[in-house]
Amino acid sequence: MKITIIGTGYVGLVTGACLAELGNDVFCLDVDPRKIDILNNGGIPIHEPGLEEIVARNRAAGRIQFSTDIEASVRHGDVQFIAVGTPPDEDGSADLQYVLAAAKNIGKYMAGFKVVVDKSTVPVGTADRVSAAISAELANRAATLEFSVVSNPEFLKEGAAVEDFMRPDRIVIGCDQTPQGEKARSQMKKLYAPFNRNHERTFWMDVRSAEFTKYAANAMLATRISFMNELANLADHVGADIEAVRHGIGSDPRIGHSFLYAGCGYGGSCFPKDVQALERTAQDYGLNLLILQAVEAVNARQKQVLGNKIQQRFGENLSGRHFAIWGLAFKPNTDDMRAASSRVLLGELLRAGASVAVYDPVSMQEAKRVLELDFYDAPELLASIRYAANPMDALVDADALAIVTEWKAFRSPDFDEVKARLKQPVIFDGRNLFEPTVMTELGIEYHGIGRSVLTRADK
Ligand code: NAI
Repeated sequence: MKITIIGTGYVGLVTGACLAELGNDVFCLDVDPRKIDILNNGGIPIHEPGLEEIVARNRAAGRIQFSTDIEASVRHGDVQFIAVGTPPDEDGSADLQYVLAAAKNIGKYMAGFKVVVDKSTVPVGTADRVSAAISAELANRAATLEFSVVSNPEFLKEGAAVEDFMRPDRIVIGCDQTPQGEKARSQMKKLYAPFNRNHERTFWMDVRSAEFTKYAANAMLATRISFMNELANLADHVGADIEAVRHGIGSDPRIGHSFLYAGCGYGGSCFPKDVQALERTAQDYGLNLLILQAVEAVNARQKQVLGNKIQQRFGENLSGRHFAIWGLAFKPNTDDMRAASSRVLLGELLRAGASVAVYDPVSMQEAKRVLELDFYDAPELLASIRYAANPMDALVDADALAIVTEWKAFRSPDFDEVKARLKQPVIFDGRNLFEPTVMTELGIEYHGIGRSVLTRADK
């Protein structure tokens, strides 16, 4: 099938590459010429395991092309996927300007029936706004062409995006019950047929329910994380181990093991903005989603937990102190720094007078770019960040190591070398990678999240 992907970011590029891999003829559009140049020169603008190979293979086979040519992109695809960003507006609601700009372009240049797929995460009711934007453009040029707007939210996880897209646990598609909606439904069915071969994974529903499903999923996952973080903070006080508690409750099939990990807060491009946008949608209808307000507040506090623990241990004034930080990306296997907890920790440490040496397996370049923006008004703080060449290099002469991202590369370091390089063997582990008892045996002072070590040491 002929497919256009509007917005060649994390979701758009993965969607385009994977649909090309299945034999479709894919046109990826982006308004950012830098990204398109990188792709056309054989590179890839993001880090995502397995993606580079798929892009290269399909480009060589002529099944995927990258361009900034809007008109050509609209003419190409019978199915037009809108996969542009939906960042938070100042009031927390989803900013739909990019989605609506894409819709306008479709209306401006379409010449025949189009299935328009909202792949971006968009608030309930957005499909109607996309429809209205296309219709307005068609009216402007006195064209009477048919189209149908479908909601097909994306559930992939950065870091495992290709795998998630190729082996989805569900595909959610919302279509209208109009003749155009039926036509769109049959095209979507054909497009997704390869994913449904062994068993049906598609959940067909109305458009608004599909739009809502994406927010409901992310809000639920964020809630589980904040809930566990609240319990972990209490565990630190009462002398319980949140890891033992996690096993104890996760084995209940009604609860399950996923997303029960306490840590130093969630980040990324999705949970923070989607929780906010759902709250904002509720407010538009005069409702206050109290649970979600708490989820957000708990997460904001949790991002400060490592900094607080460090200040409890070394004092509020950290002048003359130096810390090593392992992990900058908001989670492993990505270079994405959006809303990453590391940024909050860095702000706390640097503003308290410390210097830091940081290391991340893939996001060093992206981190530099983002941190320069974070500290643009404080160049003296920026100058206190050293970008280390490897994890062990980051440790040299540090008063302690803080772990922010659970990269596999950090899970079994040579602890003798860690101890030798640190000024004193102290670890603040924001992702609970290590066992406190093992750390004690190794002679390392260990501060996890909800692992009660600090409290016990104080007693
Ligand atoms: P992104 O920021 O990586 O990519 C968006 C791209 O759209 C950018 O390259 C931008 O230049 C381009 N763009 C903006 N306006 C355009 C226009 N009018 N025409 C063509 N290109 C345009 O964003 P990302 O992370 O891919 O997210 C896209 C959507 O997917 C968001 O709504 C997000 O919430 C959702 N989503 C993201 C997931 C993720 O893990 N990143 C997972 C599931 C959904």
